[in-house]
Amino acid sequence: MRIDILTIFPEMFDGPFSHSIIKRAQEKGLVELHLHDIRNYAQNKHRRVDDYAYGHGAGMVMMIQPIADLIDKLKAERTYDEIIFLTPDGMVYDQREANRLSTLGNIILLCGHYKGIDERLREHYITREISIGDYVLSGGELAAAVLADSIVRLIPGVLGDETSALSDSFQDGLLSPPVYTRPADYKGWKVPDILLSGHEAEINKWLMEKAEERTRQRRPDLLEED
Ligand code: ADE
Repeated sequence: MRIDILTIFPEMFDGPFSHSIIKRAQEKGLVELHLHDIRNYAQNKHRRVDDYAYGHGAGMVMMIQPIADLIDKLKAERTYDEIIFLTPDGMVYDQREANRLSTLGNIILLCGHYKGIDERLREHYITREISIGDYVLSGGELAAAVLADSIVRLIPGVLGDETSALSDSFQDGLLSPPVYTRPADYKGWKVPDILLSGHEAEINKWLMEKAEERTRQRRPDLLEED
């Protein structure tokens, strides 16, 4: 899979992409992450990427030309399955969408700033608009990093069997059950006996009950979904 990220702050991705699972996935060649600085495509003296909003004093808007040129260049090189704009007014991201995106070949993530991007980009280039939650970030970069992380860990071969994404919270529509590790008794706080019993079938039943109980208590909305 290939993910192209269009941003005015490529350095913001240095941290999230150079550690742990996402780093290893790149090293193993399971994902290619490409950062593109939108400013490099600005055809004006001061490399400006924003301008005043027409018609009202809403603030600055990201200009069409640099982003359009950059997307045109990428589209001439390969076909993209989705061109995604990160924005608080997009569909709210969830595990189902992460699963879907992880099956695609090439995607573009466009990070916005200021009061947004020229609407014509949304009309003519963007195939999907995604929000990572009902709050406003200073730009789309952190949201794009969230998407990239959640997608990459689902690509076959990225996680080993032990950490398989199949047992994640949400993957079966439920929150995860509680987990414990050694010691079995910490200052009198004991690990539930069942987990030490070695009875695999009973342990699995207990885990499922706990997952359902936790979901009912904390996220009953998940049980109502189809
Ligand atoms: N850009 C600013 N806020 C955002 C959000 N909540 N989700 C995605 N992109 C954003």
